[in-house]
Amino acid sequence: MQVRLQKYLADAGIASRRKAEELIQRGKVSVNGTVVTELGTKIDDKTDTVRYNGKIVKLESKKYVYIMLNKPEGFVTTVKDQFNRPAVTDLVKVKERVFPVGRLDYDTSGLLLLTNDGDLTYKLTHPKHEIEKTYIAKLFGTPDVNDINKFKRGVHVDGRKTLPAKIEILEKEEKYCYAKITIKEGRNRQVRKMCEAIKHPVAMLQRVATGELELGDLPKGKFRHLTDKEVRYLKNL
Ligand code: URA
Repeated sequence: MQVRLQKYLADAGIASRRKAEELIQRGKVSVNGTVVTELGTKIDDKTDTVRYNGKIVKLESKKYVYIMLNKPEGFVTTVKDQFNRPAVTDLVKVKERVFPVGRLDYDTSGLLLLTNDGDLTYKLTHPKHEIEKTYIAKLFGTPDVNDINKFKRGVHVDGRKTLPAKIEILEKEEKYCYAKITIKEGRNRQVRKMCEAIKHPVAMLQRVATGELELGDLPKGKFRHLTDKEVRYLKNL
């Protein structure tokens, strides 16, 4: 891949990008035996040989981290929030810079994956993979057979029909019920909008699984690293 020389030096841990620029300008860096002082020079990180002070500079292979967080309500999954609300990344104390895989609403809790593996994020969030996400929802009222069939066929949300979804009633109370809902997309506020469409709005929503990966008994606000087996499972989806 073609990368700027100062970025290559920074990624290899030689110096910050700005300091790397200084090193280049001071003639400390060579590419394939020729000293390069021009900023913005691009190199091929696979085939070119970069030297700093005569010593070969190699990129360490990037360390990927894969994390599951039990997101509490009251946190945003965006890194920058216009209202300055707390972000999920504040809860994940690892030295690598990780990003949420997809989103969970501010008022939704539960399983959220975070990683610095951009390829996996792309895969898990791409609609073509149709990865099942499972939620426990507290709903106003109790959906009847008709509503359940509507879910099975897909519900119109924002002018577009959703893919078939599943809803199973787990427990009924006087005014509410608890339901297990499974969808295969990640459209904005999709579960909430689907439940509104069948006139049983969501009072509480928690994601409990992504594919076969389960939240289990991970406490709210806590995170854990995925096991190798779990990472392999996600990569093979
Ligand atoms: N569906 C929603 O409505 N909200 C979420 O956070 C996730 C899925």
